[in-house]
Amino acid sequence: MPPQYRQAGPDNPSRKVITHVCGIVGYTGADPALPFLLEGLERLEYRGYDSAGVALVEPDGVYVEKAAGRLSSLVAIVDKSRPAHVGIGHTRWATHGPPTDDNAHPHTDCTGRIAAIHNGIIENYRELRAELQAAGHVFSSETDTEVIPHLLEARAGYSLGDAALYARQRLEGAYAFLAVSADEPDAVVAVRQASPLVLGLGETGNYLASDITALLPYTRDVMILDNGEMAVITGRDVEIRDGAGTVVERAVSHIEWTAEEASRGGYPHFMLKEIMEQPDAWSDCLRGRIGADDSILLEELGLCPGDLESVDRIQLIAAGTAYHACLIAQRWIEEWARVPVRVDVSSEFRYQRPILSPGTVVVAVSQSGETADTLAGVSLAKDAGFPVWAVTNVVGSTLAREVHRVLYTRAGPEVSVCSTKAYTTQLLVLALLADALAGVHSTEPRASVIPHLQSLPGLGAEWLSERRSLGPAITRVASSPSVFYIGRGVDYAVALEGQLKLKEISYIHAEAYPAGELKHGTLALIEQGVPVVAVMSSGALLPKVRSNIMEVRARGGSVLAVIPESLAGEMDDLAETTIPIPTTDERVAPILAALPLQLLAYDVATSLGRDVDKPRNLAKSVTVE
Ligand code: F6R
Repeated sequence: MPPQYRQAGPDNPSRKVITHVCGIVGYTGADPALPFLLEGLERLEYRGYDSAGVALVEPDGVYVEKAAGRLSSLVAIVDKSRPAHVGIGHTRWATHGPPTDDNAHPHTDCTGRIAAIHNGIIENYRELRAELQAAGHVFSSETDTEVIPHLLEARAGYSLGDAALYARQRLEGAYAFLAVSADEPDAVVAVRQASPLVLGLGETGNYLASDITALLPYTRDVMILDNGEMAVITGRDVEIRDGAGTVVERAVSHIEWTAEEASRGGYPHFMLKEIMEQPDAWSDCLRGRIGADDSILLEELGLCPGDLESVDRIQLIAAGTAYHACLIAQRWIEEWARVPVRVDVSSEFRYQRPILSPGTVVVAVSQSGETADTLAGVSLAKDAGFPVWAVTNVVGSTLAREVHRVLYTRAGPEVSVCSTKAYTTQLLVLALLADALAGVHSTEPRASVIPHLQSLPGLGAEWLSERRSLGPAITRVASSPSVFYIGRGVDYAVALEGQLKLKEISYIHAEAYPAGELKHGTLALIEQGVPVVAVMSSGALLPKVRSNIMEVRARGGSVLAVIPESLAGEMDDLAETTIPIPTTDERVAPILAALPLQLLAYDVATSLGRDVDKPRNLAKSVTVE
């Protein structure tokens, strides 16, 4: 039976609640805690969030106040006369599930004496929740977070630190949490498991935060917690224990960054920070979505059983960078699953009277989930009675609320107008969808793409850590009135995204062409020194692209080649500059190829002194037609 489509709702797995890139602060010391907690949360606002809350430790229990929406909603209701000296605060940015008061952090145990806040994803929360409920614990939110205070409560009689070590053993996933207990009124406990936490040493007390930005007005002396570590802080002491529970010494680092630099993680621009964050975003995007046998866990992806079987055709709609992700996905889905795919720019689709045959699923791809043209396309498809799915980064966005299924990219908030990590995580989600479709629709034997997707975070991180300056190539591109990008097959779509990056932040005219198409007109524009970026992410059709490059070279064009390391030698006689990318399976190579193209655009734009994070005439979210 075909799946029944209904609006995403609490009973629909595509609304499963996972909190992700959140802001965390904590204080214990001689001063009242609340002023620091509220100021710290305000300093973390730039990260994006959808609700906020605080917990203060008081003699008869923990006072908790929390509210969906802006921090100002919390400030309006919190009792500012509370003198507590110990507390924790949180801004939540959900990747799944509704941003409600109930789901906002902190969460408490059954007694109301323990409160916890958390950043990240607890993969085994369903099992833990069932276990704790069976033992009599009562839950009051849909979050994965709430298992933490109940796990701590389950260790009644132990110190808060020992209870936290127990919780760390039980929790699976990538997360960081802070907890307080009215039974240990001086302490804040912290656990870091792959989600950042920094400990600040102050004059009057000690601090914890997910991000140095929150601490800077109070202290510049910090200790960074490592993965697997647990810390117990009081106003006077700090104790850090490693995975085995052994106390570890940690050197104090003095931070020289300004607050603005700190909010960008020390990078000069959000765009560079977000480029560098991609390997982590890729890990987050894949986390919990792959089964032991390399199968895709459809419900974790946001789909329901039976969704894929009835898909005969896919219509992808999107704008800008998201449209380029769709062009790549079209190749993947058609090639791997043999399901026909049509891609339209949303602003065209909405006025085209598209012919959608029965069995078509419309998939709208949008980072913000607020792009007016994409939303209009979604309405059109829904009104015509078609199932509509979304790939988006923002929980609670209009798109997420409007569609029947939501596949979240989990890139975390993207601040820079120029999209980078949202784009590559869109590609990852679309690759998972293509692979899942192939599993259902294709009878052709094929090697699994999953191990290759899983190797991307490692390959990307290594490549980014070795990033070399492109020197003269940057100068050449920066001084040219026009730049051309070429590629064949899927690399044409990669090239389209590369030229958009360059255009939007450097203001240099750029165009992308299928490499074989250049000779049908555009070659007339190639003359001495004109930069041509040739994208060969996997080396597919390499001899053909080499011929096209020769045509460019014969007219004096200056070629910059993006090519796998193993094939870089092929460009020795042709390219002025070669940027080798890691050699990997050709199906996932387009994701890696995005990195050098983003960095090329970034380096050119900064060399020209452009306002990289806020390019002229552009907005992060295009909510007008
Ligand atoms: C380019 C960029 C834009 C967006 C486009 C769609 O870097 O960010 O091209 O991709 O405006 O936005 P979303 O994905 O929010 O629908």
